[in-house]
Parts: sequence; structure tokens; C-alpha cells
Amino acid sequence: MLRQFADVAHPDLLVGIETRDDAGVFRVREDMALVQTVDFFTPIVDDPYWYGAIAAANSFSDVYAMGGTPLTALNLVCFPIDSAPAEMLAEILRGGYDKAQEAGVVILGGHSVDDPEPKYGMAVTGVVHPDKVVTNAGAKPGDLLVLTKPLGSGIITTAAKFDECPPDVLDEAIRVMASLNHGAAKAMQEVEVHAATDVTGFGLLGHLYQMALASRVAVRLFSQRVPLLPEVERLAMQGNTTRGGSLNREYVGEHLQWGAAISLAMQHVLLDPQTSGGLIIAVAADRVDELLQRLQVYQTPCAAVIGEVQEGQAGTIGVE
Ligand code: CO
Ligand code: CO
Repeated sequence: MLRQFADVAHPDLLVGIETRDDAGVFRVREDMALVQTVDFFTPIVDDPYWYGAIAAANSFSDVYAMGGTPLTALNLVCFPIDSAPAEMLAEILRGGYDKAQEAGVVILGGHSVDDPEPKYGMAVTGVVHPDKVVTNAGAKPGDLLVLTKPLGSGIITTAAKFDECPPDVLDEAIRVMASLNHGAAKAMQEVEVHAATDVTGFGLLGHLYQMALASRVAVRLFSQRVPLLPEVERLAMQGNTTRGGSLNREYVGEHLQWGAAISLAMQHVLLDPQTSGGLIIAVAADRVDELLQRLQVYQTPCAAVIGEVQEGQAGTIGVE
């Protein structure tokens, strides 16, 4: 459907829809471009405060993934105002406001709709220097791929819906989903990386595929080195997988080459749709230690080399 708008061109449009990047980027001055994005979703956890905090962290993430700094946001709220307690909405908004404060983002206002199914998120505006935009299209053969949050939030929140998730595992997933990608963005700006994107609904493999396609490269993924949330493989094998995960498998399709030793549980995790996931950063091999060290300084939930960029058919991913 979006193809009909693909030829929208403007001299100041720096990043539009054609590379499926995380956010749009529009130059307003020689030394400043706007980074704009919007995201909202239905409750991912029962606790309204943490739902609000996670939705806000997720909304800012697409600005961070472009190397930008989020400045302002507008709340987007759908809520059954007659049938659900108003305190619940107050808690959702409080979670969003606290996260905005942590990020240094000012909430300017918003819009609400009476809706039987609650939804919450934000439209976010940030800034970036036009020469410092980090897109998903800049990965180069020889680059290493670094991941900044462990995987498995889709499987864990699904298990929690069926009361199959240990409370401490859910707490850890909530902590990771609610953490900002702010530190990861700062680290990658300081080190001057080649490309980045955040891991959300398409899962690690879906977002790697988009990055590889946009960058016209292939990727080798070292599955044993991918950091996972606790007990994720066990919960996946108990059946806590999602329709999104199987759609992601179809989406990447024949571009995906599984090594013989990749367990079904690991396949589910690598395709698991993430909420407010970390950044995948492509960085020159001789700068990777510097990047890992900065990520540690900024205390990102993890900092791990998970793969390598290669020459090859654009979008191909070999999972080892
Ligand atoms: Co994104
Ligand atoms: Co998004």
C-alpha cells in the first residue's frame, strides 16, 4: 500500500519510507534535522504503570535508533472511559510521564479516543545533525553486529498471559523493555558506527533482514552469542510462541539459512517479536571494542557481538 507514496521527494527529506527505517528524518537547517516517529500498542503487561513506561520507552526508541535525541512527545490514548477505572489510565499516563522525564523528553499534549480496547503510545519528535543520521542502510562488509538488549520479551509476555511465567522472569523482562535505548544511542554516536536499527515487531531476524536488504549486504548470525532473557527457550518449547513469530519466519522467507544445529527453541527466540527491544548496531571491526566499552559505561542491558556483515546477496542471513 505504501508503494503508491514511494516517490514522495523533497530536497530536505533525508530518510523517508523506502528503506523501512525506524523514523523519518527531515532537514530544517544546515545543522539540524527533525527525527519523527509514532508508535502505540495494546497492553503488553497487566501492570498499567509499567505498560505506560514500556510504551513510552518504545516510542522514543526509533529516534535513538537513528542516532537522534528525542525532545518532545504527544500522548496517544485509546481507553474505555466508561467501563474501566480512571485510575488505570492515570497510572498508564504516569508511567509514560516518568519515562519521558528520564529521557529528558517534554510531553506537550496528546489526543484520546473512547475505545473498548486500550492502546497507548506517543508521537515523538527529536533532532539529529544531518551528517550524523544513523540509518539501517549503512552496514558494510566486515562490520560486526552488536546487540544491546537480550531477546525473548514476546515469549515471556505470552507466557505471563497464560500464567506460565515465573514472576521474577517477568520482572526482568519488564525491566529490560522499560529501559531506554538512550545509552546505546549515545555510545554509537561517540564511536561513529555505520548502521543501526531497533529490534521490535519483526524480531531479531526480521530487523536484521531489513538492515541487510537496505545496506545491500548479507549477514552471519552467531546464535550461541545472542543474549537471552532468563528461561526463554524453556517457555518457547512450552508453546508460548506468537503468531507474530510465525509471520516473521514467512517475512524473511528464503533469505534465511538455518545451520543444522539450530534448535527449534532458538529459532522461535530469534524470530520472537520484541516490545521495546535493543539496538542492533553495525560497527567497523576495529572500533567494536570501543563501542562495547562505551555501552558498558552507559549500562545498556547487554552489549554483545552477535554477528558479522558480509558481501553476498542482499538480505541473506546465515544463522550459525
Ligand atoms: Co524501529
Ligand atoms: Co516503530
